[in-house]
Amino acid sequence: MGEWANTIMIVGSGQTGTALARIAASKGYSILLHDLHPEQVDKSLAKIETSLLAEENSDTHLAQKILARITKVGSLKESVQSDFVIETATENLTIKKQIFTTLSNYITQDTILATNTSSLSITEIASASDCPDRVVGMHFMSPADTMQLVEIVRGAKTTDATRNIAEKIARSFGKEPVEVKDYPGFICSRLLIPMINEAITCVFDDIADIETVDKIMQLGASHPVGPLRLADIIGLDTCLTVMETLHRNLENRKYRPSALLRNMVKAGKLGRKSGEGFYIYND
Ligand SMILES: NC(=O)c1ccc[n+]([C@@H]2O[C@H](COP(=O)([O-])OP(=O)(O)OC[C@H]3O[C@@H](n4cnc5c(N)ncnc54)[C@H](O)[C@@H]3O)[C@@H](O)[C@H]2O)c1
Repeated sequence: MGEWANTIMIVGSGQTGTALARIAASKGYSILLHDLHPEQVDKSLAKIETSLLAEENSDTHLAQKILARITKVGSLKESVQSDFVIETATENLTIKKQIFTTLSNYITQDTILATNTSSLSITEIASASDCPDRVVGMHFMSPADTMQLVEIVRGAKTTDATRNIAEKIARSFGKEPVEVKDYPGFICSRLLIPMINEAITCVFDDIADIETVDKIMQLGASHPVGPLRLADIIGLDTCLTVMETLHRNLENRKYRPSALLRNMVKAGKLGRKSGEGFYIYND
């Protein structure tokens, strides 16, 4: 928290929006939390409370104090109260462009708009707003509450001042910002998601089962979690959109999404967030 921002609006309170709301509130920011589905914000608030209470050294009083900094808001109009917006809605270009068009109708002329897209063009998302100079990519790695890195991505019209504030916000969250160019998947998703896609193809081709593929990459390549477990954590729908974005924009067959990935998304098996992906989740 600092002179650059006091109130942050988070648009999309799914996995990443929930984690970012918790981090930012813990750092002292006032948070406006919005989702297309209001009940999703209630779920987020309940999750945040549970995780705050479960944290070591946390007490009920501190948890309630942090929680009180987060306000549920029902409309994007409330963005007028914010200094900084982080959009963490579904990885879908049409949805993100609509959100940026709407936000730019309400925000003040100083408010900065960040998108947490994993793969989509910052320039294209920014073009939907009337303030592309104040739009920036802030790709928090998942899970956002534990991972250190944030890819900072400038669109064609992003100013130095906008980029600098995004970096300051990332640092104030305890993260390490690294600037990369606006290219499909940036660096992290471009390397990580094709590896996950290949692991899914290995299972589809019956070369090894799910647990074995994960074990091989954990014990054989020192990955903290296997690629299929990681796909479940990221969300299979997000993995599919990233592969489609890479495939469409880089025009190379090597990025073609696995048929199994497509089938699982069609079946609603999205990973941890839907209760089932490559593994079953009962919480
Ligand atoms: N999951 C990850 O590992 C990860 C990592 C880094 C970045 N991201 C990015 O963060 C974004 C969100 O991912 P997630 O995993 O949190 O997804 P999610 O599916 O858990 O949550 C997305 C949320 O957006 C909401 N939403 C959809 N349309 C909306 C709209 N028009 N207005 C407001 N809210 C809307 C949905 O209701 C949902 O609650 C995506 O762009 C994704 O690429 C995800």
